[in-house]
Amino acid sequence: MELPFAESWKIKMIEPIRKSTREEREKWIKEAHYNTFQLRSEQVYIDLITDSGTGSMSDRQWAAMMLGDESYAGASSFFNLKNKITELTGFGYVIPTHQGRAAENVLFSHLIKAGDIVPGNSHFDTTKGHIESRKAFALDCTIDEAKNTQLEIPFKGNVDPKKLEKALAENADKIPFIIVTITNNTAGGQPVSMQNLKEVRVIADKYKKPVLFDSARFAENAYFIKTREKGYENKTIKEITKEMFDLADGMTMSAKKDGIVNMGGFIATRREDWYEGAKKFCIPFEGYLTYGGMNGRDMNALAVGLDENTEFDNLETRIKQVEYLAKKLDEYGIPYQRPAGGHAIFVDAPKVLTHIPKEEFPAQTLTIELYLEAGIRSCEIGYLLADRDPVTRENRFGGLDLLRLAIPRRVYTNNHMDVIAAALKNVYDRREKITRGVKIVWEAPLMRHFTVKLDRL
Ligand code: F0G
Repeated sequence: MELPFAESWKIKMIEPIRKSTREEREKWIKEAHYNTFQLRSEQVYIDLITDSGTGSMSDRQWAAMMLGDESYAGASSFFNLKNKITELTGFGYVIPTHQGRAAENVLFSHLIKAGDIVPGNSHFDTTKGHIESRKAFALDCTIDEAKNTQLEIPFKGNVDPKKLEKALAENADKIPFIIVTITNNTAGGQPVSMQNLKEVRVIADKYKKPVLFDSARFAENAYFIKTREKGYENKTIKEITKEMFDLADGMTMSAKKDGIVNMGGFIATRREDWYEGAKKFCIPFEGYLTYGGMNGRDMNALAVGLDENTEFDNLETRIKQVEYLAKKLDEYGIPYQRPAGGHAIFVDAPKVLTHIPKEEFPAQTLTIELYLEAGIRSCEIGYLLADRDPVTRENRFGGLDLLRLAIPRRVYTNNHMDVIAAALKNVYDRREKITRGVKIVWEAPLMRHFTVKLDRL
């Protein structure tokens, strides 16, 4: 008999989690203004709010923590990290930052000015925030197919070369760089093919523009290239990673995802001018150049995490767990962004809560229902997160409205996946009875979803 698939690791340390009653959850979510970011973690049974900074470190990473060098300048931990990044990406200049958005802040302070346009596939919300707060524009050139959640294509995160070329033909003088987010989180953790990265490079070269990768989940992207793109079957993840970054001028990285650390990020580049420009902002915003926003021990753990998570077995264990959950949802007929992405399942909320108009935020309503059902905390990647148009101040209802089940790395077992699927099925089965959504009571002008206060209608 063929042996079934199983994790490529075993568990050495556990953390207890706690169930609650429906009455408790009714009270807690009301106190949280129906915003799952406002819940306390003890009020949560299974936490799927993000895969960012929530992974389990390995014994090797913990061992590396103990060897952290906390010297202010020139720490050996910095060089451990820098050498690993250079080995994986080919980028010789490295600036550590405290997380991904800090890398964006430092680099964009050098690269972006008011009136600029930054085209790419879907910009993550902090990326968009750092562009728009500089009075510049984030132009989404993702392929149209990404908006059809039921269409099954292998690289749904791709940039549409025609849209990108049009942007450059019309506005080349306003475009400081092109950004490609790998994987495309906003479109559902969907990968970008090597072929597409090459097409972007050709267009960039034609207009003499640099290319930046937002690389939070670059290793998962490499896994999909290996398993889905012709010609890459026999390449290692590390070979694919190197080939991807050969097509970019630099990267911003939230190390809290594919670096499998709880906090950290960096900028890496082959361009001396980007490095010199970013240096000027790193020191006042983040810290001295050999630690940026990070401790020595965290840089050491990150160096090991990057090495481990660019190995096939570790990535296969992870992606197969996301697929396992997807198969359960298939069994129950629950619609999600297909095929399942790298780090999460994105449930297509308007297809579930068909009685709730967009003005009442279907995905946020589903997020609340799932929490009430079983204490599972997810988040909305939809109309709330899309914020308002900076000019008209209207809600941006043009994109998808998704409930995201983000799966932390190496944290939950497939038994937890069974609970999540069953809870969602219970909500799905009573969907006809859910007829009222939520309304906004208070919101921040930018990145409102973290702090928005809502009321049930
Ligand atoms: N880029 C992408 C693609 C991201 O997904 C994130 C964070 C960032 C940049 C910012 O990095 O959080 O380290 O400052 N995404 C998290 C999420 C928060 O839940 O998807 P950060």
